[in-house]
Amino acid sequence: MSIIKLHDKYFKSYISKEQIQEATKSLVKKVYADCKDERPIFIGILNGCFMFVADFVRQYNGECEISFVKLASYQGTTSSGKIKQLVGVNEDLEGRTVVILEDIIDTGNTLQEIYSIFEDKKLKELKIATLFFKPDVFKKELNIDYIGIEIPDKFIVGYGLDYDGIGRNLADIYQLTAKPTMKNIVLFGPPGAGKGTQATLLKDKYGLVHISTGDVFRYNIKNKTELGLLAKKYMDGGNLVPDDITINMLKAEVELNAGANGFIFDGFPRTESQAKALDEFLTEKGEAINGMIALEVSEDLLVQRILERGKTSGRTDDQDESKIRNRFNEYNTKTAVLKDYYDNQNKYFGIDGVGAIDDITKRLSNVFDKI
Ligand code: IMP
Ligand code: MG
Repeated sequence: MSIIKLHDKYFKSYISKEQIQEATKSLVKKVYADCKDERPIFIGILNGCFMFVADFVRQYNGECEISFVKLASYQGTTSSGKIKQLVGVNEDLEGRTVVILEDIIDTGNTLQEIYSIFEDKKLKELKIATLFFKPDVFKKELNIDYIGIEIPDKFIVGYGLDYDGIGRNLADIYQLTAKPTMKNIVLFGPPGAGKGTQATLLKDKYGLVHISTGDVFRYNIKNKTELGLLAKKYMDGGNLVPDDITINMLKAEVELNAGANGFIFDGFPRTESQAKALDEFLTEKGEAINGMIALEVSEDLLVQRILERGKTSGRTDDQDESKIRNRFNEYNTKTAVLKDYYDNQNKYFGIDGVGAIDDITKRLSNVFDKI
């Protein structure tokens, strides 16, 4: 679950690819039951239908032919009502059973056009199957034989459907949503990279709330909150605190600061399942993680820095090079998963963490301003 931005608009996860596959499977079943004794011609109405047709015919095991035609009625997020010319019906369709495969039927203008185009083709039968249908906007007295999923009158994108040209390649369906009011980041950096310093500077500059999992844990345990006591039980037993307890503590923290301009998540998420839980929680609130920003510093430089710090700090774990390298490797292994997770959403931003504090803040701000 997440919120994405396409052009100037925001869309949130709405129908998963699994749900789409379920709906397609049941459409295939019904069509097959009606058409198995024919050799139907499936005609996809381009462009939006390409994914649906591909998935539909892969599941259809009977003999069939497949063809595509093109007509379009949409510009932006409202139907323009103007239907363009049909391109591409070359087959001799006389006496044949044609099943139109539509990605979505909205006002029904396109459908009406289809009916009138095929009227004089002397078909044996014309059937209409659509993956999505918006009953609240459909104004026509026209028959639709097979409907996959009924949806409310809200613009959707993904799985072949576009918003002004983009979004067709998304595997899931996303629905138009209001612009998020917050800007949230996940801040990463290996031990010794200066993450704490940068978090404080960013927090002040942008009016963000800094949520450090370590602090949240300590606070909950110290104040003996219900979640704190629960977490302590696991920690005392030498066990990891389960994800749901951690995420519930963070949710409480987010709710407490509902008026913030955004959050800096620090030390969380640490696993892909935590990242998903965070996305889900934020999406329900109409908010999103805008980016994961990671301070990148080379291992050798960090080792030098920490050893230097160890001379004065007295921390024994800062004085042993192999232990420092170990921490660094652990960090890299753990973050690799999250880097991929956010990168897949085009939300990973690595910045050079070497240099003066001010310069690094500037680099961070540059990313923050554009996400
Ligand atoms: P209709 O003619 O109003 O039924 O609309 C049909 C066409 O409009 C579809 O084939 C799509 O190309 C487009 N369309 C309708 N609703 C949506 C939507 O929610 N998202 C993306 N395209 C849509
Ligand atoms: Mg279409």
